Formats: sequence, C-alpha cells, structure tokens
Amino acid sequence: MTGNRIKTGIFGLDALIEGGLRDKTAVVIVGSSGTGKTTFAMQFLMHGIELGEQGLYVTMEESPEQIMREASYMGWDMKKHYEKNLFFIHLKGRNFKKMVEEQLPQLVKARSDYDIKTRVVIDPMTPVIWATQEKLDQRELIGKLFYTLKELGPVIATVEEHARPGETIGEDVLLPIYLADGVIHLEYYPIGGVFNRTLKIVKMRGTHHGEGVYPYMFARGVGVIVRSSAVEVPKVATKPYETLFAEAIKTAETLKAPQGIIERLKAMKENWDYEFSPEEALQIILESLKK
Ligand SMILES: Nc1ncnc2c1ncn2[C@@H]1O[C@H](COP(=O)(O)OP(=O)(O)OP(=O)(O)O)[C@@H](O)[C@H]1O
Ligand SMILES: [Mg+2]
Repeated sequence: MTGNRIKTGIFGLDALIEGGLRDKTAVVIVGSSGTGKTTFAMQFLMHGIELGEQGLYVTMEESPEQIMREASYMGWDMKKHYEKNLFFIHLKGRNFKKMVEEQLPQLVKARSDYDIKTRVVIDPMTPVIWATQEKLDQRELIGKLFYTLKELGPVIATVEEHARPGETIGEDVLLPIYLADGVIHLEYYPIGGVFNRTLKIVKMRGTHHGEGVYPYMFARGVGVIVRSSAVEVPKVATKPYETLFAEAIKTAETLKAPQGIIERLKAMKENWDYEFSPEEALQIILESLKK
C-alpha cells in the first residue's frame, strides 16, 4: 500500500493518507497566519533532503537568506544543503505571469534532465493569486505553476486564508483548492493546551484519507507532530523527561530509524521547553517509524 508513496516526514500525517503523497501531485496547505504552513512545507522539504533527494523552494516575498534563518530557528540546518541539494527560485517583482509562463518552465526543463527526485515547495503561493484580479488569469497562472512544477516531483504550496476561525474555507482560496490534487486545512485555536492547532484533509485525489479533525503541535528540532489516532498517554509524566527522551532515542535506534531522525529526537530533547510531558509526541514519532 505504501509502495510508491512519498513520505511527507510530518509525523502522524502519512498514516492519514495511505503512507504519503503520490508523486507529481500538488498539495495545498491552507491556513490563516501563524497556523504553521511554513513549518509543514520546510519539514516536507528537509525530510526529502535527509533521504538523499533534492529540494526546490519557490519563494516570492522572502529571500533565501531569510528563509534559511527562519528554518534554523525551527531546528533545520538548510545552509548545509544550500545549492548542493537545496535550491531556491526567488520569483521577484510584479511580473509573475512572464515568470511563470516563460522563465519557470525553462528552469524546470533544465533541472528535469537530471534524474534525481525533487520535492518542491511554494511558500507562500498567495502572491500568485493576488497577481491579477481576473479569475480566469488567476486560474491559468496557478494551473500553469502546478503543471510546470509537478514535472519535478511532489509539490506543496501554502496559501494564506483570511476566513475567521470556525468559518468554512475563505472564498479567496477556492481556486487553488480546486486546482490542487490535495488540500490540507490548518486551524489554530488560541485556547492554550498542547495540541491546540488542528488539521483536516479536505481532499487527496486517489487516496483514502482520514476524515477527522486531527490536533497537531510543534516541537523545535522535529517540527510538526500530528495526533492521528487516539493515543492513550497518562496525563502526568510517569518518568522524568530526560528518561522519556533517552528511551525514545533507544527505541528509534532499535527500529533502525535513519540517522536524521535520531538527530532530530536529540534536538527535540535539547529544546523541549514546554511544561507538559513529551510522552505523547514521542509516541507518535516512534509509531510513524514502525510503518
Ligand atoms: N518549533 C516550534 N516550536 C514552537 N512553536 C513553533 C515552532 N515552529 C513554529 N512555531 C509556532 O508556529 C507559528 C507559525 O509558524 P509558521 O511560520 O509555520 O506559520 P505560517 O502559517 O507559515 O504563518 P504565516 O502565514 O505568517 O507565514 C510561529 O509563529 C510559532 O509561534
Ligand atoms: Mg509562512
């Protein structure tokens, strides 16, 4: 079942989408500001790089330097891979149309001659939507962008939405949702607690996907952790956090987890500054390694 699926590297998510993304599909991550879209996108890209694949980051507003700095706050060392297996396309200026229709296909063509798996991130894709008022032009531009980049591999595009929490998806994002092969909707409930952000899979073509609302959290070093099933964990930590991390790292080693994951668990241990126990988060990560 998981044979030709591409693991996102977002802990807990792959279990909800038959093991991962299908190659050459475009998935849109929709959410209001601060829900974690960039974190999702970076984690997906860095997971591929850790597996020996290449990453292409398409940006509009921020420079590669800004993005790499942001990544380092989240615990990812992008600089190490910069222009070796991580590349940026900075679509600057107002003339997206020309960029998307002429320059981008040329760039992609040059890249696709190499036979290396590439993950693509467009973060944020919002300026492309705003580049024109005309719905038909928007549709063409987004369609072309997806069509071109999907040639390289799986694409994750982030779209900002302006609907208020609790509302259904905002009208301004209907077009990318319609044109994408998959849509994941992120919501943030600023009510405190651990897993106070939630994720919903709106669609995922060719995939039997989870239909629930799944809480997720951030941990510096590992990124997003999604609670995809009801995990039974004691509310109060049974052991000191140190011990919990040490045991989890040991289990990961026993499961022959990639070195990258072990390092992330160590980084997670160093950075864990929450008051709550890491037990549930660790359990979700270990669970995802077994699949
Ligand atoms: N590793 C982490 N540990 C704790 N909190 C984190 C971590 N990563 C992200 N966050 C929190 O999540 C917030 C949003 O992250 P992110 O930048 O991914 O959201 P976004 O949806 O891309 O936002 P925007 O629409 O502004 O681009 C951050 O402001 C931060 O508070
Ligand atoms: Mg962002």
